[in-house]
Amino acid sequence: MTLTLSNSVAIIDSGIGGMSTLTYISKTLPSENIIYVADSNYAPYGGKSDQEITMRMFKIFDFLLTKKTKLFVLACNTATAASISNLREKYSYPIIGMEPAVKPASKITQNNEVGILATAGTLKSAKFAALLDTYSHDDINFHTQPGVGLVEFIENGDTGSEELRSLLIKYLNPLLKENIDTLILGCTHYWFIKDLIKEIIGDQIQIIDTNQAVANHVKNTLLESNSLNQTNLGRVEFWSNSNKSNIKEIISKYWINNNAEFNFMGNWQI
Ligand code: DGL
Repeated sequence: MTLTLSNSVAIIDSGIGGMSTLTYISKTLPSENIIYVADSNYAPYGGKSDQEITMRMFKIFDFLLTKKTKLFVLACNTATAASISNLREKYSYPIIGMEPAVKPASKITQNNEVGILATAGTLKSAKFAALLDTYSHDDINFHTQPGVGLVEFIENGDTGSEELRSLLIKYLNPLLKENIDTLILGCTHYWFIKDLIKEIIGDQIQIIDTNQAVANHVKNTLLESNSLNQTNLGRVEFWSNSNKSNIKEIISKYWINNNAEFNFMGNWQI
């Protein structure tokens, strides 16, 4: 397929997790052309070094710049923590990152006990430490839990197996023991297992993420620079370097905004 969109918003993740962010962006900005890059062959990022992730980002950005991208979204908390400052130094384009919803959680918690489920990479990053530092002064206790192994299930299209449920119970139980009233989903992949998480923790605990906030941020940034596309119905071009034979099937499971035209490009190897 030779379709290549110009003047697009690029969304990048280690795999399909950022499709949660894609859903919000494509619904908030229905006229924008979007290019999504899933670095599936290198997922998960959660256990990789900052240097390794930054090198992947450089390659992906260079690939996307051949496609006339106007704004980049790192729909990945892990990649944001590992590489966003280097990316902003190297590329003079608007780059919007993601971070766990610590600020909104600090506003909505009633009992000041907040759980954060994120990748090991995000939780051990200096960026995350600084974020927590900013909000822990309000007497809020943040309880962190690395979700090691969860991304692999989601990458395989599994959002409800017994194995996944057991692993989640193992990770969520320590947070429940802390009596949390708010749970932050600090990894874009986890949005796809929100229902399963809810089944385990119950309806009383609020589950939050930053997808809508990021979509609003993208909109405002485009508005400010006068580069918002307002005329046509936007299209989505999806690139993945996955070797899985059923990757197309997995991707369609996670594509929720049926209004926009969706093109699977595949075969992206860098
Ligand atoms: N979806 C990503 C995040 O938000 C990365 C998950 C991974 O590759 O480990 O952190």
